[in-house]
Amino acid sequence: MKKSCLVLAAGDGTRMKSKKPKVLCTVLGKPMLGWVLDSVRKLELNQTGIIIGNNADSVKEYAISQGEYKFYIQSERKGTAHAVMQGEELFSDEYEHTLVLCGDAPFVSEDVLKSSFVFHTENNNDITVISSILDNPFGYGRIIRKGDSLDSIVEEKDCTENQMEVKEINSGVYWFKSSTLKRMLPKISNNNIKGEYYLTDIIRLSLGENGKVNAFLCESSDIVLGANTRADLSRLNRIARDKILDIHMEKGVDFPLTDGIIIEKDVIIGADTVIFPNTILRGKTIVGEGCTIGPNSLIENCKIGDNVKLNNVQAYDSIVEDNVKAGPFVHIRPNSTLKNGVKIGDFVEVKNAEIGDNTAIAHLSYVGDSIVGKCVNFGCGTVTANYDGINKHQTIIGDNAFIGCNTNLVAPVKIGDNATTAAGSTITKDVPPNSLAVERASTRIKENWKHNKLRLENKKSK
Ligand code: UD1
Ligand code: CA
Repeated sequence: MKKSCLVLAAGDGTRMKSKKPKVLCTVLGKPMLGWVLDSVRKLELNQTGIIIGNNADSVKEYAISQGEYKFYIQSERKGTAHAVMQGEELFSDEYEHTLVLCGDAPFVSEDVLKSSFVFHTENNNDITVISSILDNPFGYGRIIRKGDSLDSIVEEKDCTENQMEVKEINSGVYWFKSSTLKRMLPKISNNNIKGEYYLTDIIRLSLGENGKVNAFLCESSDIVLGANTRADLSRLNRIARDKILDIHMEKGVDFPLTDGIIIEKDVIIGADTVIFPNTILRGKTIVGEGCTIGPNSLIENCKIGDNVKLNNVQAYDSIVEDNVKAGPFVHIRPNSTLKNGVKIGDFVEVKNAEIGDNTAIAHLSYVGDSIVGKCVNFGCGTVTANYDGINKHQTIIGDNAFIGCNTNLVAPVKIGDNATTAAGSTITKDVPPNSLAVERASTRIKENWKHNKLRLENKKSK
């Protein structure tokens, strides 16, 4: 039994006042279309097509980054039936069932799609509409029933006063027998107030030919929620945020106070980890068990081990192994690895660098394009001078090295195992293992220095 799917995504974002197509507007950092595709992907469909509008290269580009899809362009927006028609190829004889849904209702879930499909096939339905009850059904197509069975779906603008009161609404998600869709779709006319080809008219038409049509009433009303405006989008973000925090709490993650915490959809967090306010975990971030993250931290696409403490840290595309302690005010830039037990203190930036086990970079330092060994101690104010204005160069530091305060390491340069650099040195040559490198003028003393004496006397006389 082959199944196909069409995602309607040709709408523009006019009311969002965005240059982006609407389906690319994000909920918790992920385009709404991405949420829909995540759910659809889990259904093991044979082919999924996306109906896109003119100039929707960005939608196409995003979808391609998520999987394999076919694209059909709807060059004029003539309604949902017209949109579906563009993907005709996906309800050819090759397929038995076709799922149709909207790209701008992000909370459609895998579970609902699966159980409605079981309902669809067990009842041998031609069409199954997924419906939901809304306290405020304004704007949605109303499900009009005749006894237990369906009669039609009537769009808000075409409703009579009585129909307006109906609270069961069309979610915009449907399972069709592909052959029914193929046969009935061309019969839909645009004889309605908006002059559009309404996909919903297929219900009445199919019933007229004794088709078997039914509604699958979904308990959760979230599945229908979409966004037309920024205010809607913000509401979806709030709902999604709470849902996701609940999932993590269920798994043993601690949020003493949820203020300002945003955890994106694909983030994984281990049990007994505590997340403090104003922490944003983004992208494909994975956090281990027993960590303390935040307050005020932003972690994007990082793999964080167990028992890690990050306080006021920004970290991107990096690996932080077990027992690392970083912060406050630390910036971990992409492609860095902080190995087991590393300690990074205030105002330190690390970029494209591997920092070995138990190494400490406690204050005011920049370590970039570097490979650093185990148990190295960085004095305050160490700088790897990695950029000569044209090219970037590497600094290599061996195990147990001791880098004195205010050392400039002018790359390319190598500091051997157990070597020491004296405070205030600018190191431009490789330093062999076990040696001391000093590069500074020796201290000169002038006895009885008058200048400060004068200053102090001046102060007294005032
Ligand atoms: C549609 C349903 C309505 C349902 C609601 C659920 C119809 C006629 N009405 O109404 O019963 O309650 O969804 O959200 O189907 N689209 C295109 N091309 C078009 C028109 C729409 O791709 O020419 C896409 C939109 O981008 C959107 C989806 O189809 O993703 C739904 O279209 P929209 O205009 O939002 O339909 P509604 O009026 O909300
Ligand atoms: Ca809509």
